[in-house]
Amino acid sequence: MRIEPVPALEGHVAVPGDKSISHRALLVGALCDGETRVVGFGRSADTEATIEAVRRLGVLVEEHDVDTLTVHGVGLRGLSEPAGPIDCRNAGTLMRLLAGILAGHRGRFELVGDESLSARPMERVAEPLRRMGARVETTEGHAPVVVEGSALHAIDYELPVPSAQVKSAILLAGVLAEGRTTVVEPLPTRDHTERLLERAGARVTRRPSSVTVEAAQRLELGELEVARDFSSAAPLLVAAAIVPGSALTVHGVNLNPRRIGLLDVLERMGARIAVYNRRSIGGEPAGEVEVRTSELVGASVTAAEVPTLIDELPFLALAACHARGETVVRGAAELRLKESDRIEAVVEELRRIGGHIRATRDGFRIKGVPARLRGGVFDSRGDHRLAMLGAVAGVSSREGVELRGAGAVDASFPGFFEVLGQVAPDSVHYPPRT
Ligand code: S3P
Repeated sequence: MRIEPVPALEGHVAVPGDKSISHRALLVGALCDGETRVVGFGRSADTEATIEAVRRLGVLVEEHDVDTLTVHGVGLRGLSEPAGPIDCRNAGTLMRLLAGILAGHRGRFELVGDESLSARPMERVAEPLRRMGARVETTEGHAPVVVEGSALHAIDYELPVPSAQVKSAILLAGVLAEGRTTVVEPLPTRDHTERLLERAGARVTRRPSSVTVEAAQRLELGELEVARDFSSAAPLLVAAAIVPGSALTVHGVNLNPRRIGLLDVLERMGARIAVYNRRSIGGEPAGEVEVRTSELVGASVTAAEVPTLIDELPFLALAACHARGETVVRGAAELRLKESDRIEAVVEELRRIGGHIRATRDGFRIKGVPARLRGGVFDSRGDHRLAMLGAVAGVSSREGVELRGAGAVDASFPGFFEVLGQVAPDSVHYPPRT
């Protein structure tokens, strides 16, 4: 696919429903008594894997239209053992959270994934779930993961790395375990699971650096509206921040404070950002975000803020290439364990199109120049965030980008190129059909 430069991005966009919350709506909905109607569901390859997974476990999911579903919950411990493995495809959130739920279910469950997911660490969930009493086997630390669930007991667990997925797996197992399960976090990570469990009636106690859940008697959600995904808005917001003369607004986007570190960092860099019409959607802060282009300067991103922009760091790196002076990102070694090694991938691909960026063990160092990057070939390496980064790098470049592996966007944002085309007319050129 060819992405041509544009003079400016302009307009109003809607992005899909939040992916993290959409996975959780299905997984928690499956454990509820009665029906959960999910409105604004973020449909993507990853969340479709979750629909299929819960169906394989005996849950009826009705799809009314692209973003409205009804999940017919089977109640706590009501999932049934499927005949064969459950395919989590590319979705790390699915594999890790589901492992926690299945740990409290009688039966033998095998979780498999695609090549990328099978290279990602799974002992980080297996180990605490074993401590709770489940039998969990990984394949040399990776998928396939086999969970043999049983009656669980509560644990107190200090996360070795800040990870919302690991925290969530333990909390979901915790509602099925006898006693009070506490997870201590080295740094605050996204708290969608805590909010959703609370909304469903679980007893959740939250402290600044830990969270406790008690064994639940029953869960019930009823209707849940999902705000739009800030991580899917991020590439478009960054494009508007760096392409001269742009003004772009995303609507109804989730603004959970543990997700929007990108806005803080961009503001420090001098970006013109306005957030308005703040409201609550599905028990989460949400609103409209408008970005207008401005001159940017480099900034430092500290380890403490990394969890609040972990999935947006690739886009921040592109913004930093356009910001006068140096940008340093530290404490982001977790990026090496995502759908690709996002430190190597971002550095190699941005360098190839003219960026002055180098990798460190746990982040990036970027020398920004307030001018468009040259452009050239950009390979997504099968990683959805990289595919979107390549596209945004293309619209903001001088000569355009030949984007390889563009289809990877399907993992989180299947309509990405149509939306980009709406705000950046004539930028997206599909290859001729062969
Ligand atoms: C997610 C948590 C983050 C994030 C991922 C989604 C979640 O991963 O990178 O895209 O939905 O809980 P970790 O918690 O493993 O850092």
